[in-house]
Amino acid sequence: MTQKTHAVRLHRFGGPEVLSYEEVDVPPPGPGEAIVRNHAVGVNFIDIYVRTGLYPSPLPGGIGYEGSGVVEAVGAGVTHVRPGDRVAYCQGILGAYAALRTMPAAQLIKLPRGIAFDVAAAMMLKGLTVQYLFRQTYRLQGNETILFHAAAGGVGLIACQWARALGVKLIGTVSSPDKAARAKAAGAWAIIDSTRENIPARVAELTGGAKVPVVYDGVGKDTWEASLDCLQPRGLMVSFGNSSGAVTNVSLGILAQKGSLFVTRPTLATHVLPRSRFEESSAELFDLVDKKKLKIDIGSSYPLAEAARAHTELAARKTTGSLILLP
Ligand SMILES: NC(=O)c1ccc[n+]([C@@H]2O[C@H](COP(=O)([O-])OP(=O)(O)OC[C@H]3O[C@@H](n4cnc5c(N)ncnc54)[C@H](OP(=O)(O)O)[C@@H]3O)[C@@H](O)[C@H]2O)c1
Repeated sequence: MTQKTHAVRLHRFGGPEVLSYEEVDVPPPGPGEAIVRNHAVGVNFIDIYVRTGLYPSPLPGGIGYEGSGVVEAVGAGVTHVRPGDRVAYCQGILGAYAALRTMPAAQLIKLPRGIAFDVAAAMMLKGLTVQYLFRQTYRLQGNETILFHAAAGGVGLIACQWARALGVKLIGTVSSPDKAARAKAAGAWAIIDSTRENIPARVAELTGGAKVPVVYDGVGKDTWEASLDCLQPRGLMVSFGNSSGAVTNVSLGILAQKGSLFVTRPTLATHVLPRSRFEESSAELFDLVDKKKLKIDIGSSYPLAEAARAHTELAARKTTGSLILLP
């Protein structure tokens, strides 16, 4: 039987005002699907790219990739989750900004007992991102010094703690003293205030002129060139986001000029397939949380109906840590 719920929908791309909180139908689960009652929903910068149309999606449509809750029903062929299971998810079909949703069951992972719903919604997408950045894209061994932009953000505060757990010295960029204090407390080895310091000069100073073997850059347009200038010869530029705008019109010659550099533009979607990889990465993340090496920082929570306020504050650089919506 089709049920009714409330969800945030997009009918056009634009500012936070296009996030429309409305009543929608929840169809019964088809083969391979499950119905999940969300207890918390994760807000990610990628949701802003979807809302503005930078990452095109079908309209009208749902928004949001990440959530946690309880399975209410499953369709034919679903065996890895059952009604009553506590689950979380962070990929695949848009539509997490909802109280109740029908979705592909393959996206669901069972939540360990010790992880609360709000923590799960605050950490799945961001934590699995740090997992692949640090363990797959450039496999950190310990003892490296790295540069990580927006170190007090949602992904950033997890990265600071994960780096500390690996014995890696993370130099983090932030835009305020308060953010600097938070990133430091989370384990950053050194902080650069990007609003008043020259990033490559400070990185050179902090590393005794050696610079870094890898830069993790989720800021994009504003930091692209500075990031390249922080790399050692043959270093790796990991451009994984565009919070300041997309990097465009790049001439490959710049990689030669700056020292035979490598560059990659990775996305989480290609790091959680096949499902066994999703399960292994999630297990690594859950283990770090269980061992208290990672403490998930929920900077702000908002009612689901106020998703626009969450987007406004995230885009304005006013937030730290992870943001969640509560249905
Ligand atoms: N490729 C992937 O697989 C993947 C997965 C997850 C996230 N990401 C990316 O990772 C980045 C962080 O995501 P998040 O959700 O955790 O967001 P976030 O870091 O909490 O928020 C973005 C931060 O970017 C910094 N920033 C610098 N210039 C900015 C500008 N002009 N406008 C807005 N923010 C600016 C701000 O920190 P300061 O004020 O301290 O500079 C801001 O707090 C995003 O780029 C996101 O797209 C990529």
